[in-house]
Amino acid sequence: MTSSIKISPSILSADILQLGEEVTSVVQAGADWIHIDVMDGGYVPNITYGPNLVAALRQVTDLPLDVHLMIAPAQPHLKAFAEAGASIITIHPDADIHTHRLICEIKSYGVKAGIALNPGVPVASIEPLLPFIDLILIMTVNPGFGGQSYISEMTNKIRQVRQLIDQSGREIELEVDGGINAETAKRAMEAGATALVAGAAIFTVKDNNYAAAIAQLRGEKR
Ligand code: DX5
Ligand code: ZN
Repeated sequence: MTSSIKISPSILSADILQLGEEVTSVVQAGADWIHIDVMDGGYVPNITYGPNLVAALRQVTDLPLDVHLMIAPAQPHLKAFAEAGASIITIHPDADIHTHRLICEIKSYGVKAGIALNPGVPVASIEPLLPFIDLILIMTVNPGFGGQSYISEMTNKIRQVRQLIDQSGREIELEVDGGINAETAKRAMEAGATALVAGAAIFTVKDNNYAAAIAQLRGEKR
C-alpha cells in the first residue's frame, strides 16, 4: 500500500520567486501531483493565487494539477480553473449552496471533482455525493496556512471515510491535507489514505533534498 501512495507537494511552502524551478524540482524528485492552494481571504484568512498561476504551471509540468479551492463562492471561478489546466478541482461543500451542481459542472469540463472536509465538517455530509465524486480531501488542519500541526483526532475520520468509499464500490481517491510529515503520513496511510498533500515537509527540508523528503513520506528508507 505504501508504495502506491500519491504525493502531492503543496506549492504554498515553495519559494514563490522560483516557483517554476521549485515545481520542476519536485517533479524530478518523484511527486505524483502538484497541489495548488487557492485562497480568497474570505473563506480562509489568507490570499494566494488564481487561474493564471494554474495556467503558468501547466506549462512547466505534465503531472496532474491538484487544485484545492478555498474560496466562497467557488462556482463563478470553476470554468476559469478548468480552462487554465486543472486536472482535479476540489471544493469545500460549505462554500457554496448547491454542491452537487458544482460537482456536475466540474465534471462537465472533463476535470476530476473533489470534496474537501474541514475538521469540523461531519463525514456523513459526503455520503449523498459519493456516486458523483472522484476524490475526498480530509483536512487535518484548519485551512489557510502551511506548516500547521496535524490534528490527531482526524485519523479516525480518515478511517470512517475509507469505510464509506469501500462500501460505495467506487474508485475514489482519499487525500489527506495538513501537517503531513513522515510520522503523520504513516498514520494517514494506515487509516486508508491514497494521496497525501505535503507543503512544509517537502519544501522546507534540509538541503532542498526533495527526493529524500518524498521518499520518507512514502515510508521508503533512503
Ligand atoms: C492548508 C492547505 C494545505 C497546506 C499544507 O490550508 O490546504 O495544502 O499547504 O501545508 P503543510 O503540509 O505544510 O501542512
Ligand atoms: Zn490544500
